[in-house]
Amino acid sequence: MIKVEGLYKELGGQPVLEDISFDIGTGEIIAVLGLSGAGKTVLLKHLIGLFRPDKGRVVIDGVDIDSLSEDQLLKVRCNMGYLFQEGALYDFMDVFDNVAFPLREHTKLTGAEVASRVREVLKLVDLDGIESKFPGELSGGMKKRVGLARAIVLGAKVLLCDEPTSGLDPIRSHDISDLIRHVSQQIGSTTVMTSHDVNNSFRIATRIIIINECRIAAIGTAEQLKGSQVPFVREFLQATTA
Ligand SMILES: Nc1ncnc2c1ncn2[C@@H]1O[C@H](COP(=O)(O)OP(=O)(O)OP(=O)(O)O)[C@@H](O)[C@H]1O
Ligand SMILES: [Mg+2]
Repeated sequence: MIKVEGLYKELGGQPVLEDISFDIGTGEIIAVLGLSGAGKTVLLKHLIGLFRPDKGRVVIDGVDIDSLSEDQLLKVRCNMGYLFQEGALYDFMDVFDNVAFPLREHTKLTGAEVASRVREVLKLVDLDGIESKFPGELSGGMKKRVGLARAIVLGAKVLLCDEPTSGLDPIRSHDISDLIRHVSQQIGSTTVMTSHDVNNSFRIATRIIIINECRIAAIGTAEQLKGSQVPFVREFLQATTA
């Protein structure tokens, strides 16, 4: 579903990603881990065409997204959901309007159809009955859920989540991780998330990618990574796992 080949990217005159290649199968949940500034967000943004590679290719569902015009890219993005690190909700819109926004922008659904779809996804993220609240009235965990609802409202074949647990307490982090797995299974998405939450990532991901010094230090299942002999991977896991 997602194929990255020889991705190279410089930002501000410095290489951020070098020779990044991997394949992600339909229905996988991939966690991208690494130190702050390792390039996790930059990698995620390449997957939705917010950054374009200097070298290499990003292929989504058989389409090289670098070859697309802005219009074509917008169409591809309608099948992709992106949960921004800060939620990126519109503070002046209530929850209903925030989640309805992509439907109103990109579909011709009637008001009743929009309302029914919004209720459906809010239910999926366990947020019934808060449609008329504003983001300022919500906890961090609820905002993440609303952001997730908005990311999937158009039906995300590919779901990208940037730090879905950042800023949350351990219980909420555990819950939102479970929710991402549940939602991914329910909607049948291929999911890529970045995280500093190594334990929850290992729990829910089918495979994990660890980035260090612009390159992939390791890629594999939790078991494979726990047995990795790569010095950085061993150090990283020793420092971050319980
Ligand atoms: N728009 C940009 N312009 C210039 N440099 C950038 C830009 N975006 C990111 N960078 C640089 O790219 C590097 C990787 O940034 P990125 O945000 O991907 O890190 P990250 O792994 O997501 O870190 P964190 O864990 O803190 O979120 C950093 O050195 C950052 O300064
Ligand atoms: Mg980041």
